[in-house]
Amino acid sequence: SNYFTYQSNELYCESTQIKKIIEETKTPVYIYSKKFFTDRVEELNEAFSEIKHKIFFSAKSNYNINTIKIFHNLGCGIDVNSEGEIFRATKAGVEGKDMIFSGVGKTKEDIEAALKIGIHMIKVESFQELELINEIASQKNLVANIAIRVNPDVDPQTHPYISTGLAKNKFGISSSQVLEIFQKGKEMKNINFVGIDMHLGSQIKNSGPFVDGVEKLVELVNKLKNQFGISLSHLDIGGGIGVSYEPSEPHLNAKTIISDLVPIFKKVDCEIYIEPGRFLTANGGILATQVLFTKKNDMQKNFVIVDAAMTDLIRPSLYKSYHHIQPVDLYESETYVADIVGPVCESGDFLALQREISKCKSGDYLAVFSSGAYGMVMSSNYNGRRRPPEVFVDGNQFFIGRSRESFDYLIFDEKIQEKLHQKK
Ligand code: LLP
Repeated sequence: SNYFTYQSNELYCESTQIKKIIEETKTPVYIYSKKFFTDRVEELNEAFSEIKHKIFFSAKSNYNINTIKIFHNLGCGIDVNSEGEIFRATKAGVEGKDMIFSGVGKTKEDIEAALKIGIHMIKVESFQELELINEIASQKNLVANIAIRVNPDVDPQTHPYISTGLAKNKFGISSSQVLEIFQKGKEMKNINFVGIDMHLGSQIKNSGPFVDGVEKLVELVNKLKNQFGISLSHLDIGGGIGVSYEPSEPHLNAKTIISDLVPIFKKVDCEIYIEPGRFLTANGGILATQVLFTKKNDMQKNFVIVDAAMTDLIRPSLYKSYHHIQPVDLYESETYVADIVGPVCESGDFLALQREISKCKSGDYLAVFSSGAYGMVMSSNYNGRRRPPEVFVDGNQFFIGRSRESFDYLIFDEKIQEKLHQKK
């Protein structure tokens, strides 16, 4: 990519030496390229150039408040999934009018927080949720802007854990029930229908599933207008645009998916919303880690033990996801096959299994690529591990957007309750 490149056999992010960052932060550390984020927004806007549209960055993929602010400054709204993400986006300077709210199980508190900031739109995934929003909005004397999330029953042909738009999944409302819900909701005084929405799943690499889904939504939009006189101002196609995790594969331009949708978008008089996460962030980040030890067992199996773990990047353990891994310094031309594993006490704690990699030695730095999406946000403190810092590179400058967690953070507000420990 143009964002993480080798210059004289040493890895750079934009024009910043990775080792210069590591010198300051130590490892493991997440490093993001601002230029990558910027270029992807431009690329998406370009793909949508013929269509009235708005990008809502799906904050769940990378919710550092600096990431949110970068996207917001580029003109994106923010797609949030909880009161916590509303809090983050607010801290990043985003107003309610630029946020949309997803989620299959919103709580009363979530809904109150959303209405309080005057959220642009809440996506509803059940009739009960619609009733609750109407009730809360009426107590507050407000009108809630609502989109119905349809489950279009489309197979996104991706990992089962990240498929969401199949009939068997928990998400959305079946197309057969959608019209009735709109009809009933129309009578609710504090509900204002503004849109229709879907999200098929994640890491979708061809337009087929999107074409099928969007066609179903378009049909519903037109039915709503003709049969019930409900006209919606926007149609939200969710996120899910896939990316390449193999550096040998070319970057998948957003156009390859979006251009097949453009003629369908033209059949409705709606602004098109899109909620990408991974597409905007995945290949804009690496996780840099240091080799602690190497060893070979009796079965002649090589292990490279690094200081990053499943607690920092869980995707390989959870989904068997492939993340490309390369040394920060390309000094060794000989390769071998090794398991690249973390320090956590689980056999499932690995970053790569049976991976061909340049022979490593203790002290080497490795870069785990495509870690900008669903990396830091899915991290945990298991084994008493502190979450890594997050660094933002802008040209030849870098900024620490979040430092390594402190030990105090690990116990948050735990306190010894003396009475609990009194001997009876
Ligand atoms: N909109 C909604 C309603 C979503 O649920 C999601 C992701 C997105 C947008 C953004 O999807 P994206 O453009 O990033 O594919 N942890 C998994 C991915 C889970 C995606 C959850 N929903 C992974 O690491 O692959």
